[in-house]
Amino acid sequence: MQKDFLSLTNCSVELLEELLELSASLKGLYKGGSRDLCLAGKTLAMLFEKPSLRTRISFQVAMRDLGGSSVYVKPEDIGGIGKREPIKDMARVFSRYVDVIMARTFEHSTVTELAKYASVPVINALTDWSHPCQAMADVLTIKEHLGRIEGVRLAYVGDGNNVARSLALAGGKFGMKMIIASPAGYELDGETIDEANEMSPGSVVQTNDPRAAVAEADVIYTDTWVSMGQEDEKAKRVADFAGFQVDAALVNSAPAGVKIMHCLPAKRGYEITDEVTEMPNSIIYDQAENRLHFQRALLKKLVS
Ligand code: CP
Ligand code: NVA
Repeated sequence: MQKDFLSLTNCSVELLEELLELSASLKGLYKGGSRDLCLAGKTLAMLFEKPSLRTRISFQVAMRDLGGSSVYVKPEDIGGIGKREPIKDMARVFSRYVDVIMARTFEHSTVTELAKYASVPVINALTDWSHPCQAMADVLTIKEHLGRIEGVRLAYVGDGNNVARSLALAGGKFGMKMIIASPAGYELDGETIDEANEMSPGSVVQTNDPRAAVAEADVIYTDTWVSMGQEDEKAKRVADFAGFQVDAALVNSAPAGVKIMHCLPAKRGYEITDEVTEMPNSIIYDQAENRLHFQRALLKKLVS
């Protein structure tokens, strides 16, 4: 069993499938009013360099659900990550106090360095590079709504960012067909696309045409045009993403019943309209809920 959960790249399909099954079974257990206190007496440290609603609260609730507790750590509380002391010392000291660490950081190398020196599991709770917990909650949600993941056609309209990257790797792992439509200059990197296509040939393709991307889609997915840390680029990005909004006209050009997804937080009026967010075929809040169910399973698997 691998120690950490940093990227889908490092996870076998078998492990990811096991995590999906465990997510579904624990979801059923908790919805039925039962509990699994497998992490009684265990502690999760949660390090956040960026804001969070879903990730922070769902991890905290998941840990409590399993009988454990969590400690929230803001960088300023500990003098910054890698500033007051080296990341390797933080990792070693945290490992003496807690049983698992999750971290949301700007640089991806921060979580990999934490993992290198921590003797306890480290979970990537979003970096500038990737968001694997989000992608797995998304896969769980797609499976629940469409009954399968292999062969599902997912049109991702927007920035080739951390969320797109983890979804593309999930596409490769599970044989999902992803078409990414981004403006020129905002495409997902070719290395990730090659990696996904090596796992499942033809699983990820790119275009600069949102209409072409959604024409045969089962799911339309979008994310913010301005990720955390890119606030200074907002004006340029909003201009560059003109024509890439997921609005009713785009949704109506897709097959009837197409599902709408967004990892949230959504900037209504930018990457998605209020109207589309509120459509009956939006499964956005099921996605948000499934962060809890996936992460509960992940904690059980990594820590117990
Ligand atoms: N989707 C997601 O990770 O949300 P938060 O930034 O609120 O955690
Ligand atoms: N791409 C977004 C995702 C937020 C959950 C960001 O990094 O800000």
